[in-house]
Amino acid sequence: MRVITSHSTTSKPPSSRPSRKNSRQENLIPGETRYSADNKNPPGIEEFRQMVLAFYRDHKRPMAWRETTDPYRILVSEIMLQQTQVERVSLKYPEFITRFPDFPALSHASLADILPVWQGLGYNRRAIALQKCAVRVMEDFAGCLPCDVDTLATFPGIGRATASSVVAFAFNLPVVFIETNIRRVFIHFFFRDGDKVSDEEILPLVERSLDRENPREWYWALMDLGTSLKKSVPNPNRRSVHYTKQSAFEGSDRKIRGEILRLLVAQNRMTAVQIIHACEKDTERVTKILGALESEGFIRKNGKYFEIVS
Ligand code: ADE
Repeated sequence: MRVITSHSTTSKPPSSRPSRKNSRQENLIPGETRYSADNKNPPGIEEFRQMVLAFYRDHKRPMAWRETTDPYRILVSEIMLQQTQVERVSLKYPEFITRFPDFPALSHASLADILPVWQGLGYNRRAIALQKCAVRVMEDFAGCLPCDVDTLATFPGIGRATASSVVAFAFNLPVVFIETNIRRVFIHFFFRDGDKVSDEEILPLVERSLDRENPREWYWALMDLGTSLKKSVPNPNRRSVHYTKQSAFEGSDRKIRGEILRLLVAQNRMTAVQIIHACEKDTERVTKILGALESEGFIRKNGKYFEIVS
């Protein structure tokens, strides 16, 4: 295993970084210069912890779901954050919570109630799963979200990473987990020379560095630092065995255009709302693509329906 521990004095892996000074790296975060390309030693665990917490003290990002310990609100935010950036979730989360303030309210809501509020977040199947989670909590758990990862991971739309985030953030329990921002931090600081780094190699470090008194805050700090690293160093996650690069086509407008045309060929005609729901992308983006397809003569509007121009 290539993990370098705080007690390691002999192991000095060659850096995978260029040896010349790189000001982008050196200005990265307070204390980071100590671990810049010139320093071939990974930090010790305690040093690492202090550095992460120092970063968090200076750079913590305010987020509404960090102001609550209500498991319902935290579940909503974690499901929203699965595939949508913090900035966009910050815009939609308050409206969702106002409209559906708790498990009973969401469990009684229909998809027709929920989907308009979800619009702008994309990937509507998450909204459907969230509503099913609310029903399950009401029917099987007397309205209380379970606080263990194994049970939560059996809920619709909740994998182990989301289950663990919920347990850490809602219940402040010291679960050990990795998600994309956390992975970035550990690869950057502990696997400088490594590629094909696996989560199995990272997990012992996550476990050893975890703040067992306050896992909630510790994971916020790791996530914020991971987000910050994304902007300042070449993505360390490329060196993860779990990294899959999204192709340029994946998630592109070109792909959505193709999807819309295929839908209209299959269905003959569809309203904008039906197309938006079928594509599972945000309204603004799909509306713009529909406008482009129309002005380019691929599709036309007939009343409220779009159809292929034959
Ligand atoms: N804070 C709490 N949960 C988060 C998440 N999933 N991503 C970023 N910041 C968070």
